[in-house]
Amino acid sequence: MAAAQDPALEIQELTQRINHLNYQYYQNSISEVSDYEFDQMLKRLEALEAQYPELRLPHSPTQRVGGTITKNFDTVYHKWPMLSLSNTYSEEELREFDKRVRKVVGDEVEYVCEQKFDGVAISLTYENGKFVQGATRGDGTRGDNITANVRTIHDVPLQAHGKDYPDLFEVRGEVFMPLQVFEQLNADREEAGEQLLANPRNATSGTLKQQDSSVVASRKLGCFSYSFHTDNSPFDTHSESLQAIQKWGFKVSDTWRKCNSIEEVMAYINEWESKRFELPIATDGVVVKVNSYALQEELGFTAKSPRWAIAYKYAAMSAATQLQGIQYQVGRTGAVTPVALLEPVLLAGTVVKRASVHNANEIQRLDLRLGDTVFVEKGGEIIPKITGVDFAKRPADSLPILYPSHCPACRTELIRPEGEVNFYCPNEKGCEPQILSKLEHFITRKAMNVDELGPKTLEQLYRVGFVRNAADLYDLTFEQLVQLERMGEKSANNILRSLEKSKETPYDRVLFALGIRFVGSTVAKKLAEQLPDLEALRGATYEELTAINEIGGRIANSILEYFQDPDHVQLVERLKAAGLKFKSENTAPDIQSDKLEGQTFVISGVFQSVSREELQQLIISHGGKVVSSISKKLSYLVAGDKMGPSKLEKAEKLGVKLLSEDEFMAMIS
Ligand code: IVH
Repeated sequence: MAAAQDPALEIQELTQRINHLNYQYYQNSISEVSDYEFDQMLKRLEALEAQYPELRLPHSPTQRVGGTITKNFDTVYHKWPMLSLSNTYSEEELREFDKRVRKVVGDEVEYVCEQKFDGVAISLTYENGKFVQGATRGDGTRGDNITANVRTIHDVPLQAHGKDYPDLFEVRGEVFMPLQVFEQLNADREEAGEQLLANPRNATSGTLKQQDSSVVASRKLGCFSYSFHTDNSPFDTHSESLQAIQKWGFKVSDTWRKCNSIEEVMAYINEWESKRFELPIATDGVVVKVNSYALQEELGFTAKSPRWAIAYKYAAMSAATQLQGIQYQVGRTGAVTPVALLEPVLLAGTVVKRASVHNANEIQRLDLRLGDTVFVEKGGEIIPKITGVDFAKRPADSLPILYPSHCPACRTELIRPEGEVNFYCPNEKGCEPQILSKLEHFITRKAMNVDELGPKTLEQLYRVGFVRNAADLYDLTFEQLVQLERMGEKSANNILRSLEKSKETPYDRVLFALGIRFVGSTVAKKLAEQLPDLEALRGATYEELTAINEIGGRIANSILEYFQDPDHVQLVERLKAAGLKFKSENTAPDIQSDKLEGQTFVISGVFQSVSREELQQLIISHGGKVVSSISKKLSYLVAGDKMGPSKLEKAEKLGVKLLSEDEFMAMIS
């Protein structure tokens, strides 16, 4: 782009151009420019916006990457209530719906059939074509204002395309998490020893309520739009409005179809019963809507739902089979979880032999007994689950399931921490499956990446007593390794070389490898950024830890607890002595002075001569500390332009000193 003289003009041009490129890329899968060119444009726009924050346009593509923190979501009223749909599982009831409709409006009725997306409903408000508000459904009358989070969703246009839209309108749709993202998210949670999310819908709804919009951006949510609302609609039918909103840049699933009779509706329903599994989002049925707005009005509403629409839901795919046993698995964190062993049964195209039971409560809730005939279902969840028991088929001699009181591996008595649904084996240091899975975690690719060592060799090393913890790995000798069964000299050397190479692993991954509960790879990265070496982490207080974005009380407590254990301290010391990296490399800036030693800073707003990141680096390089929340103990709040009023208010209330950009620069000069 030619260097425009006027920053306002350049910002406008870049905003328009990048929005157009994004639209082509996300909606039409067309790349008009190289990634490099695109990044350059985006960087230029970011730089201009940082320099002239007042010129940033509300529909700027820089908003897509998030970064806004919302502590509490405001409540907003819906201009048009967000109703629900009446449901049916039967063809008969669907035909009755059709009869009722035709009785009121006559036989010339046209329907639109759509997929019923199983995500989270969203309302999107536009003023003069600009996206101004995103809100959840809430109770239908009022929901949460989650605008900053919605801005990160690429399927939601920040500026409507074309010109023929009304001054004020609302589009509604369903936000969803693509299946692939969901699976990755759960894999990360498993690594961090966190409870898995049950299905993509729960994951979507949790994501939309995140306080940090950059987390939302990272989840790559999608949105299918399905309805349009405005006063004095320019359209006569629902199908016309679907076509129009698609033209304006909203993503409309092309699965909808106009149907002229209930027979055609049934044909659509039957056709999509199996085809729906090819879609990127879970669906659980079909929504049938009367197409004409005039007829919709004639039909009206009940208290909860429109009389002009109905949802036909597909029965969840389930099968009946026999419960043969329960296996108890001990995980890395010591959690003991039950898994149902089933008589193999075919369900939705795959043979199912195991099903999740989640926890002990679930066994009681379902009243499960060995030998029972149980129903297994596969819904949005990846792993099938037991949903009920066929009590009529319960054998007279069926036995209740007794949850073990002791660890199935090491016989230690299980404990159940208050408020937790899982039982745990507390023998963290002596329970074989716990030790082995900790070691396995330590060597995985995302952690230390000791690719020549596999779970089988680890088990051998453990059994012969050469390795009891991660530090022992680095004391292994060639002589020890070649003693193992089926271990050649070449493999032994490869293992030693691979261990040696792992010493190059960056600090954040070493931290992740330690397997501290709730410290997954993302949290480890955050910690390594903010507390650039082991000493800083070990010395951090609860307040300092929770001041870091995304580190809550649960994670902070887990870190504090970890370092209270002398065995852990010794382990970490041994790993450090072995040469592992316990210091961030790229984030640790050169030390320039100790002028800010002992002082803590919060940075807020935007600055004229430096970016926020640069300011942060400056503080650290002069010996200061950057924290993210304001407390009484805080030394200074460095205040830039456009700083949030709530921060200012809090700082004033607590008597924290404010520093302008110039004052700060004077301090370090
Ligand atoms: S129309 C009053 N169309 O289903 C009309 N809703 O039970 C309601 N949903 O909250 C909206 N796919 O979250 C409509 N194609 C679709 C839909 C759909 C999913 C959800 C929506 C709504 C719920 C109503």
